[in-house]
Amino acid sequence: MNLKPESVDVTMKSIVILISGLGSNLRALLEADLPCRIAAVISNRVDAPGLEIAKQHGITTRIVAHHSHPDRESFDSELALCIDDYRPDLIVLAGFMRILTPQFVARYQNKLINIHPSLLPAYSGLNTHARALRDGVKIHGCTVHFVTSDVDHGPIIIQAAVSVLVDDTPATLAARVLHQEHRIFPQAIRWLCNDDIRLNAGGKVLLRRLEQPGCPLISPEME
Ligand code: GRF
Repeated sequence: MNLKPESVDVTMKSIVILISGLGSNLRALLEADLPCRIAAVISNRVDAPGLEIAKQHGITTRIVAHHSHPDRESFDSELALCIDDYRPDLIVLAGFMRILTPQFVARYQNKLINIHPSLLPAYSGLNTHARALRDGVKIHGCTVHFVTSDVDHGPIIIQAAVSVLVDDTPATLAARVLHQEHRIFPQAIRWLCNDDIRLNAGGKVLLRRLEQPGCPLISPEME
């Protein structure tokens, strides 16, 4: 019998993923073969279906239930204690539906990233797809960004755009955007794990290896 512990690459960065719900982004990250160790998945909801996905992948799961705390400060303190058990290099909000206190955000400055279902800075907040449809925009999308105390307004790492179709409902539009979320989120984390990202003096994200796509997305298509 081989009793040698599994070898761990100590140079690899480690990440902790925070979820609240279905966990489709979590699944995309777990299946992306990222160059990092996923130390734990933490949920603020005991019934988050994403927890099962983590367990299926053999990832440690923890619950920090927001409803057992009287206020945001006390919830965020327990969350921070739980995160710090794993000393992660990066904390990934993958559908984590809690607003974090400025103290929490400051504690993890430049180590906290989020995915948001709109082309920020447009449509920060909730119900992004319904609001985009109401406004009649022709292009919508998603954004991975660093988290700052200004909710949904931190430095942008990567965005994906989709065309809005005439017969779109919030659900159909959400599904197409979500598909793109599953593509750009692993890419952002790969860049961060490989130290390919830095912030310039103006606080904007710069990529070490910059490949700029030449193709515009025009919607609806021109004749
Ligand atoms: C995603 O659209 C994400 O952008 C938003 O919440 C949704 C979470 O979906 N913050 P899932 O739990 O990853 O399936």
